[in-house]
Amino acid sequence: MKKILITGGAGYIGSHTAVQLVQAGYEPIIIDDLSNSEEKVLGRLKEILGKEISFYKGDCGDRQLLEQIAKEHELSGVIHFAAFKAVGESTKLPLKYYRNNVGSLVTLLQFMQDHHIKDLVFSSSCTVYGQPDKLPVTEATPRQDAESPYGNTKKICEDILIDFIKSKSGLRVISLRYFNPVGAHPSGKIGELPIGVPANLVPFVTQAAAGIREKLTVFGADYDTADGSCIRDYIHVMDLADAHLKAFEYLSKQEDNFYDVFNVGTGNGNTVLEVIKAFEKVNGIKVNYEIGPRRPGDIVKIWADTSKINEKLKWQPSYSLEDSMRDSWNWQRQLSN
Ligand code: NAD
Ligand code: WQD
Repeated sequence: MKKILITGGAGYIGSHTAVQLVQAGYEPIIIDDLSNSEEKVLGRLKEILGKEISFYKGDCGDRQLLEQIAKEHELSGVIHFAAFKAVGESTKLPLKYYRNNVGSLVTLLQFMQDHHIKDLVFSSSCTVYGQPDKLPVTEATPRQDAESPYGNTKKICEDILIDFIKSKSGLRVISLRYFNPVGAHPSGKIGELPIGVPANLVPFVTQAAAGIREKLTVFGADYDTADGSCIRDYIHVMDLADAHLKAFEYLSKQEDNFYDVFNVGTGNGNTVLEVIKAFEKVNGIKVNYEIGPRRPGDIVKIWADTSKINEKLKWQPSYSLEDSMRDSWNWQRQLSN
């Protein structure tokens, strides 16, 4: 059974990927310092899977801890989710972001090379595209100057990976550029755990619906879009998790020193108001919202061209926006209980 190290595996996307790896016959090993997650996620994973996942509490940039894991498990690959992701905080504390997001990747790559662990899937982001001129964005769309230190860490990490592969390090690497992950495991046992006031749309929608927030503010309805609100490509976290499995299957067929990058989205754009409507329709509840001013720095519209991942990784999303809204609400209700 292939053992895959999942950094940040107690987090939102990592925990869902761990479930799918087990169900596909892999053995995930999680390393997470719980800086943005809770240990009880491990218990929830056990409830879903009926068995425990090996867990190491600590920093994935800690080489000694990585050595301990390598002694105890023969790893065949790594999925590197661990990173700080709060865009606003990154503008105030840029070094915190560069140290963790860039530093941990450098340590991990050296560790992988030294132990001949070949395959790596890296969590990148559509943030590297900024506001593209042409939509939808393909992987060939030029990356733009990052709007935040967080966004810049993703760009820098992609560049580090390219340079490391060019140096004939022997690894095989895929960067997945996620669009907007939403939804939760259909069981409602795991999902996104926003700490404090959510910065992202869907956690704010579910908290407003649950009465935790008085009302949702739609950040602008005077943009050049069908209903005036911004457009994003919202991808169910279960579909996103599945893309990591497909990436591993694909990597296993490649030569050494392979690098490629794939968009992971649905290929469809939805406005903020469409998201709210889908949520209300599928769950039969009203969301208290008002139209407010634009959020400074917001991208107006972006969605993915997914033909590359569809064709090469044989990956297709199977959840709709309504499915995402149903599962996000199911998760919120479990949290509120
Ligand atoms: P998350 O915060 O829920 O999960 C990240 C996990 O990594 C957390 O459990 C945190 O405790 C852990 N972590 C952070 N630094 C660590 C370190 N040095 N060592 C060990 N553990 C560490 O975030 P997520 O939404 O699951 O995101 C996963 C990855 O996907 C991140 O790299 C993020 O930048 C990227 N991404 C996320 C989104 C999104 O909107 N959620 C979009 C694009 C890309
Ligand atoms: C989505 C839409 C808002 C909250 C973030 C990160 C980016 C990347 C993807 C990681 C926008 C609107 C939001 C609210 C609203 N993540 N909105 N009211 O802007 O795509 O970007 O996730 O790599 O780096 O910045 O996601 O969820 O913040 O916003 O109207 O209370 O919802 O204006 O149009 P975004 P988001």
